[in-house]
Amino acid sequence: MNDRRRFLKSAALGTAAAALSPLAEAARPVAKTRAPAGVVRVVSTWDFGIAANQAAWAILSQDGHSLDAVEAGARVPEADIRNHSVGLGGYPDRDGHVTLDASIMDSDANCGGVACLEDIEHAVSVARLVMEKTPHVLLVGDGARQFALSQGFKQRNLLTPAADKAWHEWLKTSHYQPEINSEVRDYGAGVPIDKDNHDTIGILALDAHGKLAGACTTSGAAWKLHGRVGDSPIIGAGLYVDGEIGAATSTGMGEEVIRNAGSFLVVELMRQGRSPTEACKEAVLRVLHKHPSTACKTQVAFLAMNKAGEAGGYAIQRGFSYAVCDAKNQSALIPSASVFPA
Ligand code: GLY
Repeated sequence: MNDRRRFLKSAALGTAAAALSPLAEAARPVAKTRAPAGVVRVVSTWDFGIAANQAAWAILSQDGHSLDAVEAGARVPEADIRNHSVGLGGYPDRDGHVTLDASIMDSDANCGGVACLEDIEHAVSVARLVMEKTPHVLLVGDGARQFALSQGFKQRNLLTPAADKAWHEWLKTSHYQPEINSEVRDYGAGVPIDKDNHDTIGILALDAHGKLAGACTTSGAAWKLHGRVGDSPIIGAGLYVDGEIGAATSTGMGEEVIRNAGSFLVVELMRQGRSPTEACKEAVLRVLHKHPSTACKTQVAFLAMNKAGEAGGYAIQRGFSYAVCDAKNQSALIPSASVFPA
């Protein structure tokens, strides 16, 4: 089944999920001033990507910049306490600390990230300021927190009562076993998330000026060792953008993505002529090939978009979905193809 036939209607947004244009049409070069309808303009991981895309679209539709769009999109799940894998309300590490990882990148290889950031809700916005206001790419831990405070971010406790309760439940066994997502959740329709999934919002956008950007933000693996950093803040692992080629992001078990410089690999495969879906599939197969016994038991998914506005994803396990929004604000949630179907 091809991507087009997989489109689901996005009831929560009330937008028609009429299929976006076929890939052949989308492959036309992006117009200098306005991308044609049918070209994907913003794409993001998981069902919570639908709401993120809408925040991004609000900027893109006003001829705004893709960098502003991806930041605005990523901030939506960061602020949503129902989402236990991103930002406020994220599940803590084994010691009860909610620590955030995030990155952001534009078409011209400008990038910034924060890792193991505590007490600051919008890690993606701190990552952007690392990019814009410092000579560095990545700030970690208390240094990242101090930097955020110096930039006017407010300190707050990110451990919500629900996440605290879940942590205390986990403490009863203290058994660490990252869960593979097992279902597509109806997040867009407002159903609370209560599963311990290991999800990340990765969001990629193409603006009317033909510029790509990407962002990625997560609270990482629930119950992880204190200090653990995943793929999301690592440029080339959780996120990569090359304005001449395309952009890619990842979700799932960050360790497996880091080992393979996953998002960089996806962009390089697109450079060699692969479509976004083909590039994501090949990167997923690389992850499996390197560590078959570990990788086949976990989830890793890649999501990519090229400069022509084609998008695609691929996952190890069934259950990964991604949200797309085109230049007519047609929105769809697409179940990704995967290596293992069940
Ligand atoms: N992909 C997110 C993480 O592993 O932390």
